[in-house]
Amino acid sequence: MILIVDFGSQTAHLIGRRLRQLGVETMYADPKSALSTAKEIHPKGIIFSGGPSSVYGQDAPTVEPEIFDLSIPVLGICYGWQLMAHLLGGEVKNTTKEYGPELLRLSLTTCAETIFSLPEKKFSVIMSHGDSVVRMPPGFTAIGSSKTVPFSAVANCEKKLFGVQFHPEADHTTYGMDILKNFAATVCKEPLNPLALDPKIIIETIRKTAGSQKVICAVSGGIDSTVTAYLIAKAIGKNIHPIYVDSGLMRPGTDKRLKDIFSKHIDAHLLVVDAKNEFLTALRGITDPEMKRKTIGKLYIDIFSREAKKHSDATILAQGTIYSDVIESKGSTHASNIKSHHNVGGLPDDLSLQLLEPVRNFYKDEVRQIGKLVGLPDDIVNQQPFPGPGYAVRIRGEVTEKRLQQVQIADGIVMEEIQNAGLKDSVFQCFALMSGAYSTAVKGDERVFAEVVAIRAYESKDIMTSRWARIPYEVLEKISTRIVNEVPDVSRVVYDITSKPPATMEWE
Ligand code: XMP
Repeated sequence: MILIVDFGSQTAHLIGRRLRQLGVETMYADPKSALSTAKEIHPKGIIFSGGPSSVYGQDAPTVEPEIFDLSIPVLGICYGWQLMAHLLGGEVKNTTKEYGPELLRLSLTTCAETIFSLPEKKFSVIMSHGDSVVRMPPGFTAIGSSKTVPFSAVANCEKKLFGVQFHPEADHTTYGMDILKNFAATVCKEPLNPLALDPKIIIETIRKTAGSQKVICAVSGGIDSTVTAYLIAKAIGKNIHPIYVDSGLMRPGTDKRLKDIFSKHIDAHLLVVDAKNEFLTALRGITDPEMKRKTIGKLYIDIFSREAKKHSDATILAQGTIYSDVIESKGSTHASNIKSHHNVGGLPDDLSLQLLEPVRNFYKDEVRQIGKLVGLPDDIVNQQPFPGPGYAVRIRGEVTEKRLQQVQIADGIVMEEIQNAGLKDSVFQCFALMSGAYSTAVKGDERVFAEVVAIRAYESKDIMTSRWARIPYEVLEKISTRIVNEVPDVSRVVYDITSKPPATMEWE
C-alpha cells in the first residue's frame, strides 16, 4: 500500500490511477491526518501530491514533520517536494515559473539510480509551478535539473526521501510511469499486480446502489454517457430511462446518432426532449464562462427533474461524469476550481434526485477500455469527446443564434478536413471556436471588421495533459480558406499552439 497525501493538485488523483495501473494498492489522506494515517496503516511508501498553494501561503496545507522520521520512503511531487524542502530546512522561492513541457537533464548518483534509473538522461517532463526550491535541505543531492530550476529531481539516499519538481503522473512526462514504478517497486518494495478493469464489478455495484428504483440517465452520444447507459441497462434492465436533452448546442445530427446507438447496442427506450429554445433563452446576455456552465447545468437538471416526474417517477439521475470533470470542478479539499464542469460544479445545491455516476473515478482512456471490454464498436469508443455544454463554451462571450450557426459551420469544416486528411484518430479532439476577438479583412475589395475563428487540435489520452497537434500546413490552409469563405462574417482564422498545462483544452 502506498499512501498519497493530497495537497489539491489537479493530478493528485491521477497518481493513484497510475499506481492502480501498475497494480499497487493506494490510499489517500488529507495533509492534516497524513501522519496519524501513516502510523496506523504502515504504508510501504508515501507520495506527496502537488497543489495550488505556496508553502508560505496563509492557509497552505502542511504535514507534521515527524512523517519523515517513520523510515518510510517519501516522494514529493511539485508542491509536495517544495513542502518537504521547506519542512526539512531548505528554501523555497517564487522565482522561476514553468508551465508546460520542459527538458529534464539527469546526472545520476548511485542511490538515485533506484528511482531515476531510466532509459535516457534527457527527456521531456510536464511542469506547472510558480515556486521552486532554491536551496535543498541537508542530506539531499541534486540529480536532475531543467533550464531554470536546478533542483528538479533530488534524493536523500540515506533517508529514502525523493523530490521532483515535475509531474511524473502526467501522461506527457516521458518516463513518468517508470519513475512511479521504480519508486513503488524498487524503493518501496511493493509487489506489482496489475488488475484489469472489470465491467462486471461496476455492473454489480450499480445493481446494489439502484435496487428497484427508477433511473433517468442523461445521454449525449459521447463515450462517457454511452458506457454509463450501457452498464446501467445491463444492471437494472427496464428501470433505466435514457433521456437526450437536445439543447441545440451539440453537433448537428447528434439525435440521429443516439437513436442509432440505442437501437443497436443498448436495450432501452431513448427519449429525446427538444429544449433548443429554452437553452438559447436562458443563455441570452450571459458572457461569463462560469455563469454559462452554471446556467446550463441548472437548466439540464430542471429538465431532467421535470421529465423524471412525467415519465417514470425516477428518483435517481445517472450521468457519465468522469474524474477529469470532477477534479477541474474543485473535486478535492485543497484543489482549485478551474472550471465548473456543467455536470459537476454546475449542478444546483438543492438537487432532489440521487446521483449515480458509475464511471466517476475513471479517466477517459479507462472509460474507452471499459467500452471496448463490453463490446461497443470502435466508432463509439474512439470518438472524440465533446463538452456537455457543447458549442456554448466554444463561443467566447454571448451565445447568439448567429454565432451558434457560425461555429457549427466552422466546426463541421474542421472535422471534415481532419477526417479527409486521415488525422481523425491521431488527434484527441479538434474544433473551431468563435474567439470573441475582431479583426480587419478585405473581402471583394471591401473592408470587413469581423470575428476571428480559432482552431484547436491536440493529442491526449486522459485529458489531464495535452500536446497541440502538429497538423500539416496544407490541411490548416484548407481549413482556413474554407472557413473565411463558407462561414459568414469571419475575418481570419488562427491556430492555437498551446499545450495543457497551462491552457485548458476549451477556451472557456
Ligand atoms: P478542459 O477545457 O477543461 O477540457 O481542458 C477537458 C475536457 O472536458 C471537456 N469539457 C467539458 N465537458 N462539461 C463537460 O461535459 C463541461 O463543462 C466541460 N468543459 C470542458 C472538453 O471538451 C475536454 O474534452
